[in-house]
Amino acid sequence: MEQVIIFNHPLIQHKISILRNKATGTNEFRALVEEIAMLMGYEALRDLPLEEVKVETPIETCMTPMISGRKLAVVPILRAGLGMVNGILALVPSAKVGHIGLYRDEVTHEPHEYYCKLPSPIEERTIVVTDPMLATGGSAVEAVNFIKQHGGKKIKFMAIIAAPEGLERLKAAHPDIQIYVGHMDRCLNENAYICPGLGDAGDRIFGTK
Ligand code: PRP
Ligand code: URA
Repeated sequence: MEQVIIFNHPLIQHKISILRNKATGTNEFRALVEEIAMLMGYEALRDLPLEEVKVETPIETCMTPMISGRKLAVVPILRAGLGMVNGILALVPSAKVGHIGLYRDEVTHEPHEYYCKLPSPIEERTIVVTDPMLATGGSAVEAVNFIKQHGGKKIKFMAIIAAPEGLERLKAAHPDIQIYVGHMDRCLNENAYICPGLGDAGDRIFGTK
Protein backbone atom coordinates (compact mmCIF):
# COMPACT_ATOMS: atom_id res chain seq x y z
CA MET A 1 0.00 0.00 0.00
CA GLU A 2 1.18 3.55 -0.82
CA GLN A 3 2.41 5.52 2.19
CA VAL A 4 0.68 8.71 1.04
CA ILE A 5 -2.72 8.97 -0.62
CA ILE A 6 -3.70 12.34 -2.07
CA PHE A 7 -7.39 12.51 -2.91
CA ASN A 8 -8.26 13.81 -6.33
CA HIS A 9 -11.94 13.04 -6.00
CA PRO A 10 -14.21 15.78 -7.38
CA LEU A 11 -16.52 15.71 -4.34
CA ILE A 12 -13.59 16.33 -2.00
CA GLN A 13 -12.06 19.02 -4.23
CA HIS A 14 -15.41 20.81 -4.46
CA LYS A 15 -15.98 20.80 -0.71
CA ILE A 16 -12.40 21.97 -0.01
CA SER A 17 -12.95 24.92 -2.38
CA ILE A 18 -15.95 26.00 -0.30
CA LEU A 19 -13.88 25.68 2.88
CA ARG A 20 -11.23 27.98 1.41
CA ASN A 21 -13.74 30.78 0.78
CA LYS A 22 -13.47 33.28 3.63
CA ALA A 23 -17.18 34.04 3.20
CA THR A 24 -18.10 30.47 4.26
CA GLY A 25 -19.60 30.68 7.75
CA THR A 26 -19.03 28.49 10.79
CA ASN A 27 -22.07 26.21 10.36
CA GLU A 28 -21.32 25.36 6.77
CA PHE A 29 -17.59 25.06 7.46
CA ARG A 30 -18.16 22.59 10.30
CA ALA A 31 -20.56 20.47 8.23
CA LEU A 32 -18.14 20.34 5.29
CA VAL A 33 -15.17 19.31 7.45
CA GLU A 34 -17.26 16.42 8.75
CA GLU A 35 -18.40 15.39 5.25
CA ILE A 36 -14.84 15.49 3.87
CA ALA A 37 -13.62 13.37 6.80
CA MET A 38 -16.30 10.81 6.01
CA LEU A 39 -15.35 10.67 2.32
CA MET A 40 -11.67 10.33 3.22
CA GLY A 41 -12.51 7.74 5.86
CA TYR A 42 -14.20 5.54 3.27
CA GLU A 43 -10.81 5.13 1.58
CA ALA A 44 -8.61 5.20 4.69
CA LEU A 45 -10.57 2.38 6.33
CA ARG A 46 -10.50 0.01 3.37
CA ASP A 47 -8.16 -2.36 5.26
CA LEU A 48 -10.14 -2.38 8.51
CA PRO A 49 -10.24 -5.96 9.78
CA LEU A 50 -13.50 -7.87 9.51
CA GLU A 51 -14.79 -10.73 11.60
CA GLU A 52 -17.25 -13.38 10.53
CA VAL A 53 -20.50 -13.29 12.50
CA LYS A 54 -23.56 -15.50 12.36
CA VAL A 55 -26.67 -13.79 10.94
CA GLU A 56 -30.14 -15.18 10.31
CA THR A 57 -31.51 -13.84 7.05
CA PRO A 58 -35.21 -14.37 6.25
CA ILE A 59 -33.99 -17.33 4.14
CA GLU A 60 -31.26 -19.08 6.17
CA THR A 61 -28.46 -18.69 8.69
CA CYS A 62 -25.11 -17.58 7.29
CA MET A 63 -21.68 -16.40 8.37
CA THR A 64 -21.06 -12.87 7.12
CA PRO A 65 -18.30 -10.24 7.67
CA MET A 66 -18.71 -7.30 10.05
CA ILE A 67 -16.45 -4.55 11.39
CA SER A 68 -15.66 -4.68 15.07
CA GLY A 69 -15.70 -1.23 16.71
CA ARG A 70 -13.07 -2.52 19.15
CA LYS A 71 -10.63 -2.47 16.27
CA LEU A 72 -10.72 1.28 15.61
CA ALA A 73 -9.73 4.42 17.50
CA VAL A 74 -10.14 7.96 16.19
CA VAL A 75 -7.72 10.43 17.74
CA PRO A 76 -8.29 14.11 16.90
CA ILE A 77 -5.57 16.67 17.53
CA LEU A 78 -7.36 19.40 19.52
CA ARG A 79 -8.93 21.58 18.61
CA ALA A 80 -9.43 21.46 14.87
CA GLY A 81 -9.14 17.67 14.53
CA LEU A 82 -12.36 17.38 16.57
CA GLY A 83 -14.26 18.67 13.56
CA MET A 84 -13.42 15.48 11.64
CA VAL A 85 -14.41 12.94 14.31
CA ASN A 86 -18.14 12.68 13.57
CA GLY A 87 -17.38 12.02 9.91
CA ILE A 88 -15.45 8.88 10.88
CA LEU A 89 -17.96 7.90 13.56
CA ALA A 90 -20.71 8.05 10.93
CA LEU A 91 -18.86 5.16 9.24
CA VAL A 92 -17.93 3.22 12.40
CA PRO A 93 -20.22 4.37 15.23
CA SER A 94 -18.69 2.04 17.80
CA ALA A 95 -15.11 3.30 17.35
CA LYS A 96 -13.42 4.64 20.47
CA VAL A 97 -12.21 8.25 20.57
CA GLY A 98 -8.96 9.49 22.13
CA HIS A 99 -7.79 13.10 22.33
CA ILE A 100 -4.42 14.79 21.99
CA GLY A 101 -4.24 18.46 22.92
CA LEU A 102 -1.52 20.40 21.08
CA TYR A 103 -1.20 24.06 20.29
CA ARG A 104 1.39 25.76 18.12
CA ASP A 105 3.53 28.46 19.70
CA GLU A 106 2.77 31.59 17.68
CA VAL A 107 6.44 32.59 17.46
CA THR A 108 8.39 29.33 17.18
CA HIS A 109 5.49 27.36 15.56
CA GLU A 110 6.57 24.39 17.70
CA PRO A 111 3.76 22.24 19.16
CA HIS A 112 3.07 22.12 22.92
CA GLU A 113 1.13 19.27 24.50
CA TYR A 114 -1.59 20.08 27.05
CA TYR A 115 -3.73 16.93 27.03
CA CYS A 116 -3.52 13.26 26.08
CA LYS A 117 -6.08 10.54 26.72
CA LEU A 118 -6.15 7.44 24.55
CA PRO A 119 -8.43 4.39 24.61
CA SER A 120 -6.85 1.40 26.30
CA PRO A 121 -5.61 -1.05 25.16
CA ILE A 122 -4.41 0.73 22.03
CA GLU A 123 -1.93 -1.85 20.67
CA GLU A 124 -4.31 -3.81 18.48
CA ARG A 125 -6.42 -0.98 17.14
CA THR A 126 -6.17 0.84 13.87
CA ILE A 127 -5.67 4.45 14.99
CA VAL A 128 -6.85 7.29 12.75
CA VAL A 129 -5.33 10.63 13.79
CA THR A 130 -7.31 13.58 12.45
CA ASP A 131 -6.26 17.19 11.90
CA PRO A 132 -7.52 19.32 9.01
CA MET A 133 -4.16 21.10 8.61
CA LEU A 134 -0.69 19.58 8.11
CA ALA A 135 1.44 22.75 8.00
CA THR A 136 5.03 22.49 9.35
CA GLY A 137 4.18 18.93 10.42
CA GLY A 138 5.30 19.58 14.01
CA SER A 139 1.90 18.81 15.56
CA ALA A 140 1.38 15.66 13.50
CA VAL A 141 4.87 14.30 14.30
CA GLU A 142 4.36 14.96 18.04
CA ALA A 143 0.89 13.39 18.06
CA VAL A 144 2.17 10.22 16.40
CA ASN A 145 5.13 10.17 18.83
CA PHE A 146 2.68 10.19 21.78
CA ILE A 147 0.56 7.44 20.29
CA LYS A 148 3.61 5.25 19.66
CA GLN A 149 4.86 5.90 23.23
CA HIS A 150 1.48 4.62 24.47
CA GLY A 151 1.87 1.46 22.36
CA GLY A 152 -0.01 2.40 19.18
CA LYS A 153 1.26 0.53 16.11
CA LYS A 154 -1.11 0.72 13.18
CA ILE A 155 -1.46 4.47 12.69
CA LYS A 156 -3.07 6.50 9.92
CA PHE A 157 -2.94 10.28 9.70
CA MET A 158 -5.69 12.21 7.94
CA ALA A 159 -5.40 15.88 6.91
CA ILE A 160 -7.74 17.86 4.67
CA ILE A 161 -4.99 20.23 3.45
CA ALA A 162 -1.22 19.73 3.62
CA ALA A 163 1.84 21.81 2.78
CA PRO A 164 4.74 20.01 1.07
CA GLU A 165 7.06 20.85 4.01
CA GLY A 166 4.73 19.22 6.54
CA LEU A 167 4.10 16.12 4.49
CA GLU A 168 7.84 15.56 3.99
CA ARG A 169 8.52 16.03 7.71
CA LEU A 170 5.80 13.58 8.74
CA LYS A 171 6.90 10.98 6.17
CA ALA A 172 10.52 11.24 7.31
CA ALA A 173 9.71 11.05 11.04
CA HIS A 174 7.18 8.22 10.71
CA PRO A 175 7.79 6.17 7.56
CA ASP A 176 5.63 3.37 8.99
CA ILE A 177 2.31 5.26 9.05
CA GLN A 178 -0.16 5.90 6.26
CA ILE A 179 -1.01 9.48 5.38
CA TYR A 180 -4.23 10.64 3.71
CA VAL A 181 -4.40 14.19 2.33
CA GLY A 182 -7.41 15.87 0.74
CA HIS A 183 -5.36 18.41 -1.18
CA MET A 184 -1.67 19.39 -1.43
CA ASP A 185 -1.27 23.15 -1.25
CA ARG A 186 1.61 25.29 -2.50
CA CYS A 187 3.71 26.32 0.52
CA LEU A 188 3.82 27.91 3.97
CA ASN A 189 3.95 31.66 4.51
CA GLU A 190 6.21 33.49 7.01
CA ASN A 191 3.72 32.72 9.83
CA ALA A 192 3.71 29.02 8.91
CA TYR A 193 0.17 29.23 7.53
CA ILE A 194 -0.68 27.12 4.50
CA CYS A 195 -1.06 29.02 1.18
CA PRO A 196 -3.66 29.29 -0.22
CA GLY A 197 -5.06 27.21 2.67
CA LEU A 198 -8.23 28.13 4.51
CA GLY A 199 -6.90 30.21 7.41
CA ASP A 200 -7.01 29.00 11.01
CA ALA A 201 -8.99 25.77 10.94
CA GLY A 202 -9.76 25.77 14.69
CA ASP A 203 -11.10 29.32 14.61
CA ARG A 204 -13.22 28.61 11.54
CA ILE A 205 -14.71 25.41 13.00
CA PHE A 206 -15.45 26.88 16.42
CA GLY A 207 -16.20 30.48 15.44
CA THR A 208 -13.38 31.95 17.54
CA LYS A 209 -10.78 34.50 16.56
C1 PRP B 1 -3.40 24.01 13.97
C2 PRP B 1 -3.91 22.79 13.23
C3 PRP B 1 -2.82 21.78 13.52
C4 PRP B 1 -1.59 22.63 13.54
C5 PRP B 1 -0.87 22.44 12.24
O1 PRP B 1 -3.67 23.93 15.31
O2 PRP B 1 -5.16 22.37 13.65
O3 PRP B 1 -2.98 21.10 14.74
O4 PRP B 1 -2.01 23.99 13.68
O5 PRP B 1 0.32 23.11 12.23
P1 PRP B 1 1.73 22.39 12.19
O6 PRP B 1 1.67 21.36 11.14
O7 PRP B 1 2.66 23.53 11.83
O8 PRP B 1 2.03 21.84 13.56
P2 PRP B 1 -3.37 25.14 16.34
O9 PRP B 1 -2.02 24.99 16.95
O10 PRP B 1 -3.67 26.45 15.66
O11 PRP B 1 -4.39 24.85 17.51
P3 PRP B 1 -5.99 24.88 17.52
O12 PRP B 1 -6.46 23.71 16.69
O13 PRP B 1 -6.31 24.72 18.97
O14 PRP B 1 -6.46 26.19 16.93
N1 URA C 1 -2.96 25.75 11.27
C1 URA C 1 -4.08 26.22 10.66
O1 URA C 1 -5.18 26.16 11.22
N2 URA C 1 -3.95 26.73 9.42
C2 URA C 1 -2.78 26.81 8.78
O2 URA C 1 -2.72 27.28 7.64
C3 URA C 1 -1.62 26.32 9.44
C4 URA C 1 -1.75 25.79 10.69
